[in-house]
Amino acid sequence: MKLGVNIDHIATLRNARGGFEPNLVEAAKVALKLDILALTMHLREDRRHIKDDDLYNVKKLGAKINLEMAATSEIQQIALDLMPYSVCIVPERRQEVTTEGGLDVFGQKEYLKEFIKPLKQAGILVSMFIDADEKQVEASSYIGADYIELHTGCFANAFENGDYVKELEKLKKAAKLAQSLGLKVNAGHGLNYENVHLMKEIQGLCELNIGHSIISKSIFTGLESAIDMMLKLIK
Ligand code: PXP
Repeated sequence: MKLGVNIDHIATLRNARGGFEPNLVEAAKVALKLDILALTMHLREDRRHIKDDDLYNVKKLGAKINLEMAATSEIQQIALDLMPYSVCIVPERRQEVTTEGGLDVFGQKEYLKEFIKPLKQAGILVSMFIDADEKQVEASSYIGADYIELHTGCFANAFENGDYVKELEKLKKAAKLAQSLGLKVNAGHGLNYENVHLMKEIQGLCELNIGHSIISKSIFTGLESAIDMMLKLIK
């Protein structure tokens, strides 16, 4: 399993004062010293954390970027210009604190099939952030996505409440179905140092995208150690 480090919350902290600290590019350099697959960055419509320049400045370091994005033409144009390693299509609501659930691929499959075509043609890997739901997995295969990223938020909440077995089973089942349809499978949201080991029970997971817990831990340990600790847990 590989790790994508989500650095959005370094930008959240920087933007709290509107200046340059903490420096996102310096943080990206620290992360890139380690054996990670990619830096994950979400360019939201309201630019509440990552800004357009951040993407280009991190790309200049030679980083593989996994760009989380809503399925809008504005962000699609930016993706085609930036040429990230991969994009993960997520739902986006202005009022939400963070991404709240998976994307409804089933309900907009014809739109999404057309939407991802230029991204795929440009050679960008396309992932759909979905709940562990058979209909959504099948729709992701239908539209021609390369990957799904399973939303692990419900699993993470259940883990906190001490009863995660059912949610983990749902993830396992969805991953198996996706793989049988030729999709590669990633996972993310709410994963932390306590629950991440359980992701090893899901056969064939490629990548975990983790942000909040790593950036939170880094306040106490420094970013390099925080990432390194997570890498050790998922190896
Ligand atoms: N994957 C996706 C698609 C997300 O939207 C997020 C949150 O930005 C994450 C992974 C990372 O979640 P967390 O910050 O809870 O680790």
